[in-house]
Amino acid sequence: MDRILIRGGNRLTGDIRISGAKNAVLTLMPCALLADAPLTLENLPRLADVDTFMHLLNQLGATTTLSGGANGGAGRRMTIDAARIASTVAPYDIVRKMRASILVLGPLVARAGEATVSMPGGCAIGNRPVDLHLKALEALGARIELAAGYVKAIAPEGGLRGATISFPTVSVGATENALMAASLARGETVIENAAREPEIVDLAHCLIAMGAEIEGVGSDTLTVHGKDRLHGATYSVMPDRIEAGSYACAAAITGGDIALHGARHGDLAAVLAGLHQAGLHIEENDDTIRVAADGPLRPVTLSTAPFPGFPTDMQAQFMAMLARADGASLLTETIFENRYMHVPELARMGADIEVRGRSAVVKGVDRLYGAQVMATDLRASMSLILAALAAEGESQVLRVYHLDRGYERLEEKLSRVGADIERASED
Ligand code: EPZ
Repeated sequence: MDRILIRGGNRLTGDIRISGAKNAVLTLMPCALLADAPLTLENLPRLADVDTFMHLLNQLGATTTLSGGANGGAGRRMTIDAARIASTVAPYDIVRKMRASILVLGPLVARAGEATVSMPGGCAIGNRPVDLHLKALEALGARIELAAGYVKAIAPEGGLRGATISFPTVSVGATENALMAASLARGETVIENAAREPEIVDLAHCLIAMGAEIEGVGSDTLTVHGKDRLHGATYSVMPDRIEAGSYACAAAITGGDIALHGARHGDLAAVLAGLHQAGLHIEENDDTIRVAADGPLRPVTLSTAPFPGFPTDMQAQFMAMLARADGASLLTETIFENRYMHVPELARMGADIEVRGRSAVVKGVDRLYGAQVMATDLRASMSLILAALAAEGESQVLRVYHLDRGYERLEEKLSRVGADIERASED
């Protein structure tokens, strides 16, 4: 396993190009299963999760071709041809590595009439059930069977049929599965209390490019007029708003000044509002957002919420930044029941954080100290990197495979803006 070594204290300044979004590409890739003609995804990020999903699609019989962007970057693309579906089973050894594998369930049962997916199981940030995914497919007429750790969905004779799906709570993944399945269901489907994350908008736009008919894109009520088939398309993955927010926090915690190229203001409004509240200077023009420190960091009180609220995927990164603020901040995590795994590791670097149920009180400290710390999940790993960038002395972040799931060429991007960072392979 690799580790990342950082010698903290450098002020980060310069330009970072934002890559394609992990949480968009992981729902765009399974779209290919809905069509018997190739789907080409451009602006493809080089991420471990993309490789894992590619392997899953190959297991199902789809061919995948990568081209361009030798070392990542906007030129990289993947063509997925699912004309022939050879298997409808997503096996445990793949699903256990990546929860997003559940997103083949909807497309497979819609296109091939059935799908068997290993239950994803919990992960470091909670048990994360899939009951809302299954209820949505049942509403479309699918029969659900659970056995031996697998969930099987079987479409009725004649295929899925349109229905009203009303989610009791907002779920990004369940909305994505429902939207993909409804695109091939006979008749009209209305999805109520749908998630409104930008990645859902990206999914809807990709499905429309493939011939789907969807109304209400961007709202919490989506209306889908099902089609007999979808055709191929070429679609460019949206920029990663969480990557952009993470590097904005890098500028903040090091007293720096970074221009985020490709970041979209609309995707980041709540994050930029939080950064502004923390005292950062924010400048937007064309496709660039500049984030510059402007005096000491100020404490912030915020709660995570579904879009357009403050994203849960930015909570750990904000916590690291606020560990250096002048005063006490209050963060409340409302989406996941256990998303404070980064707290003990940040404390080992000198942060003063007290978790009280769903909330955390972050008392700013004058300095953080380099240490050897352990990553536990993707965004927690990034919070440790951020703290290390501001800490006195050297830090070693272990288990960086978590980071490689969601941040493309992290060391390269950070060293380009002045970080003293390198990756060391474990002998
Ligand atoms: C997506 O996960 C993202 N992952 C997560 O990003 C993100 O944190 C999350 O949405 C919330 O924004 C991808 O897009 C690949 P949910 P997802 O369904 O779809 C509960 C990252 O770091 N729930 O919106 O799994 C669930 O337990 C990752 O990039 C049910 O109860 O999230 C959670 O408490 C982490 N039953 C809440 O809903 C269900 O059937 C929100 O989950 C589904 C979810």
